[in-house]
Amino acid sequence: MNLHPETRLAHGGSGGPDAATGAVTPPVHVSTTFARDAEGALHGDPLYARVGNPTRGRFERALADLEAGAGEHDLACAAFASGMAAVNAIFQSLERGAHVVLADDVYYNTRVLLAEVFERWGLTFSEADLTDPAALRAALRPETRLVWAETPSNPLLKITDLRAAADAAHEAGALLVVDATWTTPLVQRPLTLGADAVVHSATKYLGGHSDLLGGAVVAPGESTLFGRVRRVQQTAGAVLGARDAHLALRGMRTLAVRLRTQQQNAARLADFLAGHAAVKQVHFPGLDGHPGHAVAREQMNGFGAMLSFEVSGGAERANAVAGGCEVFVRATSLGGTESLIEHRAPVEPPSSATPPGLLRLSAGLEHPDDLVADLEQALDG
Ligand SMILES: Cc1ncc(COP(=O)(O)O)c(C=O)c1O
Repeated sequence: MNLHPETRLAHGGSGGPDAATGAVTPPVHVSTTFARDAEGALHGDPLYARVGNPTRGRFERALADLEAGAGEHDLACAAFASGMAAVNAIFQSLERGAHVVLADDVYYNTRVLLAEVFERWGLTFSEADLTDPAALRAALRPETRLVWAETPSNPLLKITDLRAAADAAHEAGALLVVDATWTTPLVQRPLTLGADAVVHSATKYLGGHSDLLGGAVVAPGESTLFGRVRRVQQTAGAVLGARDAHLALRGMRTLAVRLRTQQQNAARLADFLAGHAAVKQVHFPGLDGHPGHAVAREQMNGFGAMLSFEVSGGAERANAVAGGCEVFVRATSLGGTESLIEHRAPVEPPSSATPPGLLRLSAGLEHPDDLVADLEQALDG
């Protein structure tokens, strides 16, 4: 049967009960090595846990199936020890001398990784506003091999038209890779919109409980890019551990219901903030006035559960508002059951363009009235 993603997720991925025991919740395979029989044959695929582990494999299949939806069934997934290890594997798959066009508003560590690690190894990169197709085309060079997008972007929630970006990248002989951490495949599936690979930090919504680090790359299994990513995974070895893979799979069982409530809460918070006198600007693609609203409506299923806003009074006021919250936890990261607030500029490098008065919110699962009341008292205090 062609099952909906929610159904597959509720059953812990597509594998069904454990084949060996019938366990409905599959075991966590902690063994690092796998025995051979007298003839030297292995029992199944796994040889050694860096190369392959059944629990990690189950997570990889579940995420690849989720990205595929009802289409793209040749997708494969490689799971890593963190989101950044997955990002790293993509860049390590490029040739020396390759040029990367990076969206000008992305998770700042992606920029740091390129600038501080990969430039020394012969990659170059430049930044472009991917919300403007002309700016993207102007940034493409003969040696461009990769365009890196994040939509909605971090932390300004800029929206990139993925079909247009994929067309522009492909015409220039480059690949489009999308960091899809903020949306998960339930909200947006870039591979169906022309992207060549997606990257996830499983630390966020997929795990969903702020208790694991993980990452993944999903791409067509036969692609050169995926083959290289798999090689980086298995040889360099920054793999997702079995216990974290199990936690991620457990989190994914409730992903659909969590995201539904989190998206509703985010929309409610955006409406409240948009009407508050102390708020200069709200960045949330679900608002009619957001410049990317129409594209987001077209390519997303909902508008995500992240938003940011700028307060009048700059850094000092933003710091006071974050400090005044009692329900929102003042912490970095996103995607957990608890709502988080973060004064973003101080955690990013000084070169970052993030406005000093910007606060980023990750909407959790609390009652929306409590969240609104908390922001209200913090803004009015
Ligand atoms: C959009 C995005 N991509 C990647 C990462 C990195 O993920 P990890 O912390 O799992 O390495 C983050 C972390 O905040 C993120 O927000």
